Amino acid sequence: VDLSPQVPQSVFVRAADAEDVGQIRALALGNGMFAPDEMGGFDDGLSGYLSGAAEGHSWLVATDAGGRVAGAAYFAPEPFGDRVWNLYFLAADPSNHRRGAGSSLVTHVEQLLRAKGEESARVLIVETSSSAAYEGARAFYAGRGFDREAVIREFYGPGEDKIVFWKLLV
Ligand SMILES: CC(C)(COP(=O)(O)OP(=O)(O)OC[C@H]1O[C@@H](n2cnc3c(N)ncnc32)[C@H](O)[C@@H]1OP(=O)(O)O)[C@@H](O)C(=O)NCCC(=O)NCCS
Repeated sequence: VDLSPQVPQSVFVRAADAEDVGQIRALALGNGMFAPDEMGGFDDGLSGYLSGAAEGHSWLVATDAGGRVAGAAYFAPEPFGDRVWNLYFLAADPSNHRRGAGSSLVTHVEQLLRAKGEESARVLIVETSSSAAYEGARAFYAGRGFDREAVIREFYGPGEDKIVFWKLLV
């Protein structure tokens, strides 16, 4: 994992559409977030969004100057919380980490949620792993103003905890 900062890149953020599916899947696989045989839930989330069946679920893509997908984000309401939203997926192109795509996406997610107003969105949470592979993600969320709110020990496997990051939107 390259932990060094890169030259910032300007990206454009828009709602994802069906033509982005291949590139979004490539982000998940290319970052090693899921093995190919673990993509079922991911694909269900994408197809529910594209069909309009999953109300309130949104996928965004960040595209570079050439129109290529530089990153993607997926957020949805938390069914068991009060106006709590989950950032279920966030990834930047592994060959382009640390050039601003992830930050642009999180900023857009927060703006879209704040625009819904306090009656719809109060809190944004995101879950990640305690493993070394997600050190960059943890630094990223802490740097974007999220609080390291909770730890569910042993969640992802022996010695691998779930870390919940939390941000107040109102
Ligand atoms: C985490 C991730 C989405 C961040 O997106 P990104 O476009 O690389 O991040 P940005 O360029 O917007 O980074 C902004 C800041 O976050 C922090 N940051 C990002 N990656 C970091 C890393 N690997 N190590 C330390 N800090 C990091 C830095 O403060 C960085 O600013 P700087 O480069 O000026 O120091 C991206 O690295 C990624 O896709 N990682 C693999 C998948 C993943 O872990 N997703 C999150 C799962 S919950």
